[in-house]
Amino acid sequence: MTSFPQTILMCPPDHFEVAYVINPWMEGHFANTDDALAHRQWNGLRDAIAQHAKLALEPPQRDLPDIVFTANAGLVLSGKVILSRFRSVERRGEEPHNRAWFAENGFKILDWPQDVHFEGAGDALFDRGQALLWVGHGFRSDAAVPALLEKMLGRKTAALNLVDPRFYHLDTCLCPLEGGHLLYFPAAFDEKSRALIEALIPPAKRIAVEEADALKFCCNAVDLDGHVFMNDASENLQTRLRGAGFTPVITPLSEFMKAGGAAKCLTLKLVET
Ligand code: ARG
Repeated sequence: MTSFPQTILMCPPDHFEVAYVINPWMEGHFANTDDALAHRQWNGLRDAIAQHAKLALEPPQRDLPDIVFTANAGLVLSGKVILSRFRSVERRGEEPHNRAWFAENGFKILDWPQDVHFEGAGDALFDRGQALLWVGHGFRSDAAVPALLEKMLGRKTAALNLVDPRFYHLDTCLCPLEGGHLLYFPAAFDEKSRALIEALIPPAKRIAVEEADALKFCCNAVDLDGHVFMNDASENLQTRLRGAGFTPVITPLSEFMKAGGAAKCLTLKLVET
């Protein structure tokens, strides 16, 4: 038996569908996902990831189609978790299920103010080269979140203001990679945030992507064991990733894209230090 250092939380898409519109990707897709295809695609991602990490599964819930996006369950650090406090009423019913799962699995649940919206690892990403937490705000998580997380977790945060509604969560447009590389779509951020990224990441480590790749959710990637799992990416971007020492793994997720999510959204790393 191989033992992996990482454990990834996923939630089977048994009740997944587009039942409401809370981001631009969902528009026009009401009840328009192919259930069998969604299962095949989710299984494909799960099987690919299972070669590099242990898997944990959260049970799916009827009438909570977006609970498949476990990145939004919360933010995990060293056996502790801050649960998401969803902005949209449509997703608020996920919180008690997430709370139950983390409590049952031995995580310490940290208190978070009732009135501050925060969407977990969808908007908070640990850098993989320095002790830094990238935090996105502007659409889902409140502007107060970066300072609050810094205080609660004792980890320096870099606040990034998201300005393009198509990239409403930080993990749709930015992905920290091993060795301090950063895959990101610059136009999703305001000028000040772009300058902050440039100040914190040296040019040789920045992998800025074009809009066409960003729209394939290439930045919504799972960085694991030298591999980068993603819905899709141009040959050019895959070549650049290989040049930086990574192995891109394309795992198509069209059905989940209709809900505004892809590989990273469907996963949550449970081991973060
Ligand atoms: N339909 C979901 C929403 O709008 C998609 C969530 C995607 N998750 C993510 N981490 N980006 O909330």
